[in-house]
Amino acid sequence: MKAPTARQVRIAAAFAILPMFVAAGVILTDPASKAVMSRGPLLAGHENVVCEACHTPSPGTTRQQIQAKVHYAVGLRKTSVDFGYGAVTSKACLECHDRPNERHPIFRFHEPRFQDAVVQIEAKSCLGCHSEHSTHRTFTEATYCQACHEDLVLKVDPLDVNHETLIANLEWQSCLGCHDFHGNHRHEAPVMLEEAFAPSAIRQYLRAGPSPYPLPKIYEATED
Ligand code: HEC
Ligand code: HEC
Ligand code: HEC
Ligand code: HEC
Ligand code: HEC
Repeated sequence: MKAPTARQVRIAAAFAILPMFVAAGVILTDPASKAVMSRGPLLAGHENVVCEACHTPSPGTTRQQIQAKVHYAVGLRKTSVDFGYGAVTSKACLECHDRPNERHPIFRFHEPRFQDAVVQIEAKSCLGCHSEHSTHRTFTEATYCQACHEDLVLKVDPLDVNHETLIANLEWQSCLGCHDFHGNHRHEAPVMLEEAFAPSAIRQYLRAGPSPYPLPKIYEATED
Protein backbone atom coordinates (compact mmCIF):
# COMPACT_ATOMS: atom_id res chain seq x y z
CA MET A 1 0.00 0.00 0.00
CA LYS A 2 1.24 3.47 -0.89
CA ALA A 3 2.43 5.57 2.08
CA PRO A 4 0.08 8.53 2.73
CA THR A 5 1.29 11.94 1.64
CA ALA A 6 2.03 14.60 4.24
CA ARG A 7 -1.16 16.38 3.13
CA GLN A 8 -3.28 13.25 3.68
CA VAL A 9 -1.78 12.85 7.17
CA ARG A 10 -2.64 16.43 8.04
CA ILE A 11 -6.24 16.02 6.86
CA ALA A 12 -6.63 12.73 8.73
CA ALA A 13 -5.19 14.32 11.88
CA ALA A 14 -7.51 17.30 11.54
CA PHE A 15 -10.50 14.97 11.29
CA ALA A 16 -9.28 12.96 14.28
CA ILE A 17 -9.09 16.01 16.56
CA LEU A 18 -12.14 17.86 15.15
CA PRO A 19 -14.64 16.27 17.58
CA MET A 20 -12.50 17.46 20.48
CA PHE A 21 -12.69 21.06 19.26
CA VAL A 22 -16.41 20.77 18.70
CA ALA A 23 -16.85 19.27 22.16
CA ALA A 24 -14.72 22.01 23.77
CA GLY A 25 -16.66 24.65 21.84
CA VAL A 26 -19.96 23.14 22.89
CA ILE A 27 -18.93 22.97 26.53
CA LEU A 28 -17.47 26.49 26.68
CA THR A 29 -20.44 28.12 24.95
CA ASP A 30 -22.99 26.13 26.93
CA PRO A 31 -24.92 28.55 29.16
CA ALA A 32 -24.52 26.23 32.13
CA SER A 33 -20.73 26.10 32.03
CA LYS A 34 -20.44 29.79 31.17
CA ALA A 35 -22.47 30.74 34.20
CA VAL A 36 -20.61 28.32 36.47
CA MET A 37 -17.61 30.49 35.70
CA SER A 38 -19.40 33.82 36.11
CA ARG A 39 -22.58 33.23 38.04
CA GLY A 40 -23.98 35.86 40.39
CA PRO A 41 -24.39 35.65 44.18
CA LEU A 42 -26.94 33.38 45.84
CA LEU A 43 -29.94 34.85 47.70
CA ALA A 44 -29.54 35.71 51.37
CA GLY A 45 -30.38 32.47 53.19
CA HIS A 46 -29.10 30.31 50.31
CA GLU A 47 -25.39 30.73 51.09
CA ASN A 48 -25.11 27.16 52.34
CA VAL A 49 -27.63 25.54 49.99
CA VAL A 50 -25.79 23.18 47.65
CA CYS A 51 -26.09 23.68 43.89
CA GLU A 52 -27.77 20.28 43.44
CA ALA A 53 -30.67 21.25 45.73
CA CYS A 54 -31.95 23.42 42.85
CA HIS A 55 -30.10 22.04 39.82
CA THR A 56 -30.94 18.41 39.28
CA PRO A 57 -28.51 16.53 37.05
CA SER A 58 -29.80 15.80 33.51
CA PRO A 59 -30.28 12.20 32.44
CA GLY A 60 -27.28 10.39 30.90
CA THR A 61 -23.59 10.36 31.72
CA THR A 62 -21.42 13.38 30.93
CA ARG A 63 -19.98 11.42 28.00
CA GLN A 64 -23.45 10.74 26.58
CA GLN A 65 -24.43 14.38 27.05
CA ILE A 66 -21.27 15.59 25.24
CA GLN A 67 -21.88 13.09 22.45
CA ALA A 68 -25.49 14.25 22.04
CA LYS A 69 -24.34 17.92 22.03
CA VAL A 70 -21.69 17.17 19.38
CA HIS A 71 -24.22 15.28 17.26
CA TYR A 72 -26.57 18.26 17.57
CA ALA A 73 -23.77 20.72 16.66
CA VAL A 74 -22.82 18.79 13.49
CA GLY A 75 -26.44 18.17 12.49
CA LEU A 76 -26.73 14.46 13.30
CA ARG A 77 -29.35 15.13 15.95
CA LYS A 78 -32.44 17.36 15.77
CA THR A 79 -32.62 18.53 19.39
CA SER A 80 -29.97 19.49 21.92
CA VAL A 81 -29.87 18.10 25.45
CA ASP A 82 -29.43 19.76 28.83
CA PHE A 83 -25.79 19.73 29.72
CA GLY A 84 -25.04 18.68 33.26
CA TYR A 85 -28.15 20.19 34.81
CA GLY A 86 -31.77 20.56 33.76
CA ALA A 87 -33.87 23.74 34.09
CA VAL A 88 -34.68 24.75 37.68
CA THR A 89 -38.35 24.18 38.57
CA SER A 90 -40.69 25.17 41.41
CA LYS A 91 -40.58 21.56 42.55
CA ALA A 92 -37.02 22.13 43.79
CA CYS A 93 -38.04 25.26 45.71
CA LEU A 94 -40.98 23.49 47.32
CA GLU A 95 -38.69 20.75 48.67
CA CYS A 96 -37.62 23.36 51.23
CA HIS A 97 -40.36 26.01 51.08
CA ASP A 98 -43.58 24.00 51.08
CA ARG A 99 -45.42 25.44 54.08
CA PRO A 100 -48.86 25.01 55.57
CA ASN A 101 -51.18 28.05 55.41
CA GLU A 102 -49.54 29.42 52.26
CA ARG A 103 -51.73 32.41 51.33
CA HIS A 104 -50.94 32.22 47.61
CA PRO A 105 -50.00 28.65 46.68
CA ILE A 106 -48.95 28.50 43.01
CA PHE A 107 -51.28 25.57 42.23
CA ARG A 108 -54.22 27.98 42.64
CA PHE A 109 -53.04 29.98 39.64
CA HIS A 110 -53.86 27.15 37.23
CA GLU A 111 -57.52 28.21 37.58
CA PRO A 112 -58.88 29.67 34.30
CA ARG A 113 -59.70 33.02 35.94
CA PHE A 114 -55.98 33.71 36.39
CA GLN A 115 -55.07 33.09 32.75
CA ASP A 116 -54.34 36.77 32.02
CA ALA A 117 -52.48 37.28 35.30
CA VAL A 118 -50.29 34.29 34.59
CA VAL A 119 -49.36 35.77 31.22
CA GLN A 120 -48.42 39.04 32.94
CA ILE A 121 -46.44 37.69 35.90
CA GLU A 122 -45.89 33.95 35.36
CA ALA A 123 -47.48 33.30 38.74
CA LYS A 124 -47.56 29.54 38.06
CA SER A 125 -43.88 29.25 38.92
CA CYS A 126 -41.76 30.55 41.80
CA LEU A 127 -39.35 31.76 39.14
CA GLY A 128 -41.99 34.07 37.68
CA CYS A 129 -41.27 36.33 40.67
CA HIS A 130 -38.01 35.08 42.20
CA SER A 131 -34.62 34.66 40.68
CA GLU A 132 -31.26 33.36 41.79
CA HIS A 133 -27.68 34.50 41.14
CA SER A 134 -29.05 38.05 41.03
CA THR A 135 -29.17 40.87 43.55
CA HIS A 136 -32.97 40.92 43.84
CA ARG A 137 -35.03 39.05 46.43
CA THR A 138 -37.89 39.27 43.95
CA PHE A 139 -37.89 41.10 40.65
CA THR A 140 -41.67 41.62 40.50
CA GLU A 141 -42.97 45.20 40.66
CA ALA A 142 -44.60 45.96 44.02
CA THR A 143 -47.84 46.71 42.12
CA TYR A 144 -48.41 43.19 40.77
CA CYS A 145 -51.45 42.52 43.03
CA GLN A 146 -53.49 44.38 40.40
CA ALA A 147 -53.19 41.42 38.03
CA CYS A 148 -55.59 39.39 40.23
CA HIS A 149 -57.32 41.72 42.69
CA GLU A 150 -58.67 44.44 40.43
CA ASP A 151 -62.30 43.44 41.19
CA LEU A 152 -61.77 43.15 44.96
CA VAL A 153 -64.81 44.12 47.05
CA LEU A 154 -64.88 43.68 50.83
CA LYS A 155 -68.26 43.14 52.49
CA VAL A 156 -67.09 45.01 55.55
CA ASP A 157 -64.03 47.12 55.05
CA PRO A 158 -62.18 48.04 58.27
CA LEU A 159 -59.73 50.53 56.69
CA ASP A 160 -59.68 54.30 57.22
CA VAL A 161 -59.05 54.64 53.48
CA ASN A 162 -61.02 51.63 52.22
CA HIS A 163 -59.90 49.12 49.59
CA GLU A 164 -62.39 50.46 47.06
CA THR A 165 -60.83 53.92 47.29
CA LEU A 166 -57.26 52.56 47.17
CA ILE A 167 -58.09 50.58 44.03
CA ALA A 168 -60.02 53.45 42.39
CA ASN A 169 -56.91 55.61 42.95
CA LEU A 170 -54.63 52.84 41.59
CA GLU A 171 -52.71 52.72 44.89
CA TRP A 172 -51.37 49.24 44.07
CA GLN A 173 -48.04 50.03 45.68
CA SER A 174 -49.85 50.27 49.05
CA CYS A 175 -50.91 46.57 49.26
CA LEU A 176 -47.57 45.03 50.27
CA GLY A 177 -47.31 47.73 52.95
CA CYS A 178 -50.05 45.89 54.89
CA HIS A 179 -50.21 42.34 53.49
CA ASP A 180 -47.32 39.98 52.88
CA PHE A 181 -47.69 37.75 49.84
CA HIS A 182 -47.12 34.30 51.30
CA GLY A 183 -48.52 35.01 54.76
CA ASN A 184 -45.29 33.82 56.36
CA HIS A 185 -44.56 36.94 58.40
CA ARG A 186 -45.88 37.42 61.94
CA HIS A 187 -47.74 40.53 60.99
CA GLU A 188 -51.35 41.58 61.27
CA ALA A 189 -52.52 43.92 58.53
CA PRO A 190 -53.12 47.36 60.12
CA VAL A 191 -56.36 49.30 59.51
CA MET A 192 -54.77 52.76 59.28
CA LEU A 193 -53.02 53.65 56.03
CA GLU A 194 -50.37 55.64 57.93
CA GLU A 195 -49.34 52.43 59.72
CA ALA A 196 -48.52 50.66 56.45
CA PHE A 197 -44.85 50.20 55.54
CA ALA A 198 -43.81 52.99 53.17
CA PRO A 199 -43.69 52.01 49.47
CA SER A 200 -39.97 52.91 49.45
CA ALA A 201 -39.28 50.42 52.28
CA ILE A 202 -41.13 47.71 50.32
CA ARG A 203 -39.23 48.48 47.11
CA GLN A 204 -35.92 48.23 49.00
CA TYR A 205 -36.98 44.94 50.57
CA LEU A 206 -37.81 43.46 47.15
CA ARG A 207 -34.32 44.46 45.97
CA ALA A 208 -32.67 42.49 48.80
CA GLY A 209 -32.58 45.47 51.19
CA PRO A 210 -33.48 45.03 54.89
CA SER A 211 -36.77 43.35 55.81
CA PRO A 212 -39.38 45.76 57.23
CA TYR A 213 -40.85 42.93 59.32
CA PRO A 214 -39.59 43.21 62.91
CA LEU A 215 -40.43 39.64 64.01
CA PRO A 216 -38.93 36.31 62.85
CA LYS A 217 -40.83 34.46 60.10
CA ILE A 218 -43.39 31.79 61.01
CA TYR A 219 -41.64 29.05 59.00
CA GLU A 220 -37.90 29.15 58.41
CA ALA A 221 -36.59 26.82 55.73
CA THR A 222 -33.54 24.70 56.52
CA GLU A 223 -30.54 24.05 54.31
CA ASP A 224 -31.33 20.41 53.61
C1 HEC B 1 -31.79 28.17 45.47
C2 HEC B 1 -31.68 27.58 44.18
C3 HEC B 1 -30.33 27.62 43.47
C4 HEC B 1 -29.11 27.29 43.98
C5 HEC B 1 -28.75 26.87 45.39
C6 HEC B 1 -28.18 27.43 42.89
N1 HEC B 1 -28.82 27.84 41.76
FE1 HEC B 1 -28.01 28.12 39.93
N2 HEC B 1 -29.78 28.81 39.22
C7 HEC B 1 -30.95 28.83 39.92
C8 HEC B 1 -31.97 29.44 39.11
C9 HEC B 1 -33.40 29.69 39.53
C10 HEC B 1 -31.37 29.78 37.88
C11 HEC B 1 -32.02 30.47 36.68
C12 HEC B 1 -32.02 29.57 35.47
C13 HEC B 1 -33.16 28.60 35.42
O1 HEC B 1 -34.30 29.03 35.51
O2 HEC B 1 -32.90 27.38 35.22
C14 HEC B 1 -29.99 29.34 37.97
C15 HEC B 1 -29.06 29.45 36.96
C16 HEC B 1 -27.82 28.87 37.00
C17 HEC B 1 -26.96 28.69 35.87
C18 HEC B 1 -27.26 29.13 34.47
C19 HEC B 1 -27.98 27.99 33.79
C20 HEC B 1 -28.72 28.41 32.59
O3 HEC B 1 -29.26 27.51 31.94
O4 HEC B 1 -28.79 29.61 32.30
C21 HEC B 1 -25.84 28.04 36.31
C22 HEC B 1 -24.67 27.56 35.49
C23 HEC B 1 -25.97 27.85 37.72
N3 HEC B 1 -27.20 28.35 38.12
C24 HEC B 1 -25.00 27.27 38.51
C25 HEC B 1 -25.11 27.11 39.88
C26 HEC B 1 -24.05 26.63 40.76
C27 HEC B 1 -22.66 26.23 40.29
C28 HEC B 1 -24.56 26.62 42.02
C29 HEC B 1 -23.86 26.25 43.33
C30 HEC B 1 -22.78 27.12 43.71
C31 HEC B 1 -25.94 27.07 41.93
N4 HEC B 1 -26.24 27.37 40.63
C32 HEC B 1 -26.82 27.17 43.00
C33 HEC B 1 -31.14 28.36 41.19
C34 HEC B 1 -30.14 27.95 42.07
C1 HEC C 1 -32.21 23.08 50.23
C2 HEC C 1 -33.25 23.97 50.69
C3 HEC C 1 -33.67 25.14 49.82
C4 HEC C 1 -34.05 25.13 48.50
C5 HEC C 1 -34.07 23.95 47.53
C6 HEC C 1 -34.50 26.49 48.20
N1 HEC C 1 -34.37 27.29 49.31
FE1 HEC C 1 -34.96 29.21 49.47
N2 HEC C 1 -34.23 29.29 51.39
C7 HEC C 1 -33.66 28.23 52.06
C8 HEC C 1 -33.23 28.68 53.38
C9 HEC C 1 -32.54 27.81 54.44
C10 HEC C 1 -33.54 30.06 53.47
C11 HEC C 1 -33.30 31.00 54.67
C12 HEC C 1 -34.36 30.77 55.75
C13 HEC C 1 -35.70 31.31 55.32
O1 HEC C 1 -35.75 32.47 54.87
O2 HEC C 1 -36.73 30.58 55.42
C14 HEC C 1 -34.18 30.41 52.20
C15 HEC C 1 -34.65 31.67 51.88
C16 HEC C 1 -35.32 32.01 50.70
C17 HEC C 1 -35.87 33.30 50.39
C18 HEC C 1 -35.85 34.52 51.29
C19 HEC C 1 -34.60 35.32 51.06
C20 HEC C 1 -34.57 36.55 51.92
O3 HEC C 1 -33.65 37.36 51.69
O4 HEC C 1 -35.42 36.72 52.80
C21 HEC C 1 -36.46 33.23 49.15
C22 HEC C 1 -37.16 34.35 48.39
C23 HEC C 1 -36.26 31.88 48.69
N3 HEC C 1 -35.56 31.17 49.64
C24 HEC C 1 -36.71 31.41 47.48
C25 HEC C 1 -36.39 30.16 46.95
C26 HEC C 1 -36.71 29.73 45.59
C27 HEC C 1 -37.47 30.58 44.59
C28 HEC C 1 -36.21 28.47 45.44
C29 HEC C 1 -36.21 27.60 44.19
C30 HEC C 1 -35.49 28.17 43.05
C31 HEC C 1 -35.58 28.09 46.70
N4 HEC C 1 -35.71 29.14 47.59
C32 HEC C 1 -34.98 26.87 46.96
C33 HEC C 1 -33.56 26.93 51.61
C34 HEC C 1 -33.86 26.51 50.32
C1 HEC D 1 -46.57 36.40 42.11
C2 HEC D 1 -45.23 36.56 42.68
C3 HEC D 1 -44.64 35.49 43.54
C4 HEC D 1 -44.63 34.13 43.33
C5 HEC D 1 -45.26 33.35 42.19
C6 HEC D 1 -43.86 33.56 44.41
N1 HEC D 1 -43.43 34.54 45.26
FE1 HEC D 1 -42.29 34.30 46.92
N2 HEC D 1 -42.40 36.30 47.33
C7 HEC D 1 -43.00 37.23 46.51
C8 HEC D 1 -42.86 38.55 47.10
C9 HEC D 1 -43.38 39.87 46.52
C10 HEC D 1 -42.12 38.37 48.30
C11 HEC D 1 -41.69 39.46 49.28
C12 HEC D 1 -42.82 39.81 50.21
C13 HEC D 1 -42.92 38.83 51.32
O1 HEC D 1 -41.95 38.63 52.06
O2 HEC D 1 -44.01 38.25 51.49
C14 HEC D 1 -41.85 36.95 48.41
C15 HEC D 1 -41.16 36.36 49.45
C16 HEC D 1 -40.76 35.04 49.49
C17 HEC D 1 -39.98 34.44 50.55
C18 HEC D 1 -39.42 35.17 51.77
C19 HEC D 1 -40.49 35.46 52.77
C20 HEC D 1 -41.14 34.21 53.31
O3 HEC D 1 -42.35 34.06 53.03
O4 HEC D 1 -40.48 33.38 53.93
C21 HEC D 1 -39.82 33.11 50.23
C22 HEC D 1 -39.08 32.06 51.01
C23 HEC D 1 -40.51 32.90 48.97
N3 HEC D 1 -41.08 34.07 48.56
C24 HEC D 1 -40.56 31.67 48.32
C25 HEC D 1 -41.36 31.41 47.20
C26 HEC D 1 -41.52 30.09 46.59
C27 HEC D 1 -40.84 28.83 47.07
C28 HEC D 1 -42.39 30.24 45.55
C29 HEC D 1 -42.95 29.15 44.64
C30 HEC D 1 -43.63 28.04 45.34
C31 HEC D 1 -42.75 31.66 45.48
N4 HEC D 1 -42.13 32.31 46.51
C32 HEC D 1 -43.61 32.20 44.54
C33 HEC D 1 -43.65 36.99 45.33
C34 HEC D 1 -43.88 35.74 44.77
C1 HEC E 1 -52.01 35.31 40.48
C2 HEC E 1 -53.13 35.84 41.22
C3 HEC E 1 -52.89 36.61 42.49
C4 HEC E 1 -51.99 37.62 42.71
C5 HEC E 1 -50.98 38.21 41.74
C6 HEC E 1 -52.23 38.11 44.04
N1 HEC E 1 -53.24 37.40 44.62
FE1 HEC E 1 -54.01 37.66 46.48
N2 HEC E 1 -55.24 36.08 46.25
C7 HEC E 1 -55.34 35.31 45.11
C8 HEC E 1 -56.22 34.17 45.40
C9 HEC E 1 -56.59 33.06 44.43
C10 HEC E 1 -56.65 34.31 46.73
C11 HEC E 1 -57.56 33.37 47.54
C12 HEC E 1 -58.93 33.94 47.63
C13 HEC E 1 -59.72 33.72 46.38
O1 HEC E 1 -59.89 32.57 45.98
O2 HEC E 1 -60.18 34.73 45.80
C14 HEC E 1 -56.02 35.52 47.23
C15 HEC E 1 -56.21 36.00 48.52
C16 HEC E 1 -55.62 37.13 49.04
C17 HEC E 1 -55.82 37.63 50.39
C18 HEC E 1 -56.73 37.02 51.46
C19 HEC E 1 -55.96 35.87 52.03
C20 HEC E 1 -56.60 35.22 53.22
O3 HEC E 1 -55.95 34.27 53.71
O4 HEC E 1 -57.69 35.61 53.64
C21 HEC E 1 -55.04 38.75 50.52
C22 HEC E 1 -54.91 39.63 51.77
C23 HEC E 1 -54.36 38.94 49.25
N3 HEC E 1 -54.73 37.94 48.37
C24 HEC E 1 -53.49 39.97 48.99
C25 HEC E 1 -52.70 40.06 47.85
C26 HEC E 1 -51.67 41.05 47.68
C27 HEC E 1 -51.32 42.12 48.68
C28 HEC E 1 -51.12 40.83 46.44
C29 HEC E 1 -49.95 41.54 45.80
C30 HEC E 1 -48.74 41.59 46.64
C31 HEC E 1 -51.80 39.68 45.86
N4 HEC E 1 -52.75 39.25 46.75
C32 HEC E 1 -51.53 39.15 44.62
C33 HEC E 1 -54.68 35.54 43.91
C34 HEC E 1 -53.67 36.48 43.70
C1 HEC F 1 -53.71 49.95 55.61
C2 HEC F 1 -53.52 48.54 55.43
C3 HEC F 1 -54.07 47.89 54.18
C4 HEC F 1 -53.83 48.22 52.87
C5 HEC F 1 -53.04 49.40 52.34
C6 HEC F 1 -54.47 47.20 52.08
N1 HEC F 1 -55.09 46.30 52.87
FE1 HEC F 1 -56.12 44.66 52.28
N2 HEC F 1 -56.78 44.36 54.17
C7 HEC F 1 -56.37 45.07 55.28
C8 HEC F 1 -57.10 44.60 56.45
C9 HEC F 1 -56.92 45.12 57.88
C10 HEC F 1 -57.99 43.59 55.99
C11 HEC F 1 -59.01 42.77 56.80
C12 HEC F 1 -58.36 41.81 57.73
C13 HEC F 1 -57.46 40.85 56.99
O1 HEC F 1 -57.95 40.15 56.07
O2 HEC F 1 -56.27 40.80 57.32
C14 HEC F 1 -57.72 43.44 54.54
C15 HEC F 1 -58.32 42.50 53.73
C16 HEC F 1 -57.92 42.23 52.44
C17 HEC F 1 -58.32 41.06 51.65
C18 HEC F 1 -59.22 39.93 52.13
C19 HEC F 1 -60.61 40.20 51.68
C20 HEC F 1 -61.59 39.17 52.20
O3 HEC F 1 -62.69 39.14 51.63
O4 HEC F 1 -61.26 38.44 53.14
C21 HEC F 1 -57.72 41.17 50.43
C22 HEC F 1 -57.82 40.21 49.27
C23 HEC F 1 -56.93 42.40 50.45
N3 HEC F 1 -57.08 43.00 51.67
C24 HEC F 1 -56.17 42.84 49.39
C25 HEC F 1 -55.57 44.08 49.36
C26 HEC F 1 -55.02 44.68 48.17
C27 HEC F 1 -54.99 44.04 46.80
C28 HEC F 1 -54.52 45.90 48.53
C29 HEC F 1 -53.90 46.96 47.66
C30 HEC F 1 -54.84 47.66 46.79
C31 HEC F 1 -54.77 46.05 49.96
N4 HEC F 1 -55.40 44.93 50.41
C32 HEC F 1 -54.39 47.16 50.71
C33 HEC F 1 -55.39 46.05 55.30
C34 HEC F 1 -54.89 46.68 54.18
